[in-house]
Amino acid sequence: MHPQLPNAVICATGSYLPQKVLTNKDLEKMVDTTSEWIETRTGILERRLADDDMASAEMGYRASLKAIKGAGVKAEDIDLIIVATVTPDYQFPSTSCLIQEKLGAKRAACFDIGAACPGFIYALTCGAQFLKTQEYKLVLVVATDTLSRITDWQDRNTCVLFGDGAGACILKAEQGDHGIISCLLGADGSGEDLLKLPAGGSRLPAKETTIKERLHYLKMNGNEVFKFAVRIMEKAARDILKKNGMESKDVDWFIPHQANIRIIESVAKRLNVPLEKVVVNVQKYGNVSGASTAIAVDEMNRSGKFKKGNLILLDAFGSGLTWASCLIRW
Ligand code: UT7
Repeated sequence: MHPQLPNAVICATGSYLPQKVLTNKDLEKMVDTTSEWIETRTGILERRLADDDMASAEMGYRASLKAIKGAGVKAEDIDLIIVATVTPDYQFPSTSCLIQEKLGAKRAACFDIGAACPGFIYALTCGAQFLKTQEYKLVLVVATDTLSRITDWQDRNTCVLFGDGAGACILKAEQGDHGIISCLLGADGSGEDLLKLPAGGSRLPAKETTIKERLHYLKMNGNEVFKFAVRIMEKAARDILKKNGMESKDVDWFIPHQANIRIIESVAKRLNVPLEKVVVNVQKYGNVSGASTAIAVDEMNRSGKFKKGNLILLDAFGSGLTWASCLIRW
């Protein structure tokens, strides 16, 4: 932390989860699976699904409205909107532009970030830089995903894992020792094939064969991603703590990406973080990509569990491969 420069502070949060609930029992009727398998192998009990007429921008907009209200600011005062998503409404225009229009945030510059599950942390990091350099005063960061649209509902290996939802926060520049203290971002493109949406981009544009081969649905090598996740989340957490002269015992709340309870518990164990300090919502929402950590931050904030001065560690991994960690002093 540089003493003269302001910090980026999360001054309000919001989230939106669609009403429709898909339980493990429901999935038993759709693919060859059991509630017991899903619960024991993933920790997921249910997930939310967006209605047909709702997509990522609308969910991000609804989460943003709550954050804006909480911050007591006007949409017109926002300088920048950054949206993390792997399920944008369109290839272009960006989802951030769609949210800007819905909010009436006329002054805001807008861009999307495609960093998959660590997307919220990547977006927070970007937003924080614009505030630290004093380029901007107010930044809206959103993570929103409608993973149900790219989920193959015939593939039991993946369809039990994902859900829809959005989280948002307002960042502003403030002097002091609280706010986003430190961020660590990483990527390894050699893991391209472990988790990807093969078709719909410029490599394999939509045509009859891509549809027939179900290439517009996400494909994942679950085992390999699992091993990577445990290793990289431990490393990203250790590295950021070390960089800041801290230890895992200094952490008050650990908010890992919500992909699988077994990944979360393995990482917490390796880091020596007791489970009482680990924030978990995977049982309620499944994996909502970047929105998972954003929703967790909002739920913790709204329930009053974050106390002034608490040290919060965010930690995530995802397609790319990518990873990110972030330390926040509340
Ligand atoms: O945000 C990042 C995105 N993704 C992730 O983080 C996912 C990371 N990976 C995982 O969470 C886990 O690897 C999975 C939950 C995907 C799979 O759990 P696993 O313990 O690694 O199981 P597995 O892939 O080793 O499969 C074990 C067995 C297989 O059967 P055989 O080949 O041993 O006969 C699968 O076919 O479980 C079978 N299986 C299922 N059985 C019932 C896979 N999915 C299901 C299912 N219901 N839904």
